[in-house]
Amino acid sequence: MRKKRVFSGIQPSGTLHIGNYLGAIRQWLVEQKYKEGYFCIVDMHAITVPQDPEILRRRVRELAAVYLASGLDPRYSTIFVQSHVPAHAEACWILNCVTPVGWLERMTQYKSKAQQGASVSAGLLDYPVLQAADILLYDTDEVPVGEDQKQHVELSRDIAQRFNRLYGETFVLPEAVIPTSGSRIRAFNEPSRKMSKSEAQIRGHAVNLIDEPDEIRLTIQQAVTDSGREILFSDDPHRAGINNLLEVYELFTGLDRQAIEVHFAGKGYGVLKKELIEVVVEALRPIRERYYKLLANPAEIDQILRAGAEKARAVAEPKLFQMKKRVGFLIT
Ligand code: AMP
Ligand code: TRP
Repeated sequence: MRKKRVFSGIQPSGTLHIGNYLGAIRQWLVEQKYKEGYFCIVDMHAITVPQDPEILRRRVRELAAVYLASGLDPRYSTIFVQSHVPAHAEACWILNCVTPVGWLERMTQYKSKAQQGASVSAGLLDYPVLQAADILLYDTDEVPVGEDQKQHVELSRDIAQRFNRLYGETFVLPEAVIPTSGSRIRAFNEPSRKMSKSEAQIRGHAVNLIDEPDEIRLTIQQAVTDSGREILFSDDPHRAGINNLLEVYELFTGLDRQAIEVHFAGKGYGVLKKELIEVVVEALRPIRERYYKLLANPAEIDQILRAGAEKARAVAEPKLFQMKKRVGFLIT
């Protein structure tokens, strides 16, 4: 039987925080050996909003180092840069031509980014079609992502279905895999909102994956909670701050919710914060150490990315060829 295909990606557009890790990357590591995983650094998505070229280039290597430091292993998983595999751009064009603009205008990420920016590029509107190309080129079964990407994965599925209907069975219909806990980690300084890469540098907003222990300590100590005293999981929006701290504790310790509530029964918020700091510092220490070791040797990272692109091309190109035949391009 064919191994399940897994595809996911992150934009090299900011500092990775524990939300990215708990919502996305952590799931990628699960069963890495038993599934066929493709993990992409989506630089073409990043330029849908303005980027400084030198910073973008640097961040691509840094994101590759984060993938590796978090535990992705190139012996099992394919790690590559989107722009190194031109099939993504070509497939995107073909898929563009079967995607109604109305579908794209409905995307919530587009609507919120379009509201923020002064001018909106065609690329920003087209963003989810490129994402569909990423996913569909690999006959992907599962797309492990955080909650905010669910709508994009469903759109990929709709595009695949439409292409299949118009041109005959071509694509596997992908499914989003969203963790039950950790799919939407909230900002420590503003628990009504999600932790976001674009705000990760704001003091108190996020614990970043490569933060030093002192920074982690400060962010968690200052985390906004409420005036209550019970340490219980809850979906009451007024208790979102405490629930968020508990979720992070749950995910980094692997303990179950009931055991955690029993452990903290009768204790104050200060105790939870103190223990959480220890847990997070220790969980991130090995990632940070591996990260800096890897970055000290950029040639090795580049070599892994070159090999990854080659493996990715071997899958994406035959699929693209099939798409071209289906739509009627002359193959000579
Ligand atoms: P982004 O930071 O938007 O590039 O997202 C990269 C990956 O991390 C995607 O799979 C997101 O769904 C996931 N992600 C982003 N922010 C969070 C968050 N606050 N909680 C959980 N997952 C997140
Ligand atoms: N849009 C995703 C995000 O912002 C990144 C992404 C691009 C992606 N292509 C993908 C995620 C394919 C999963 C599969 O997080």
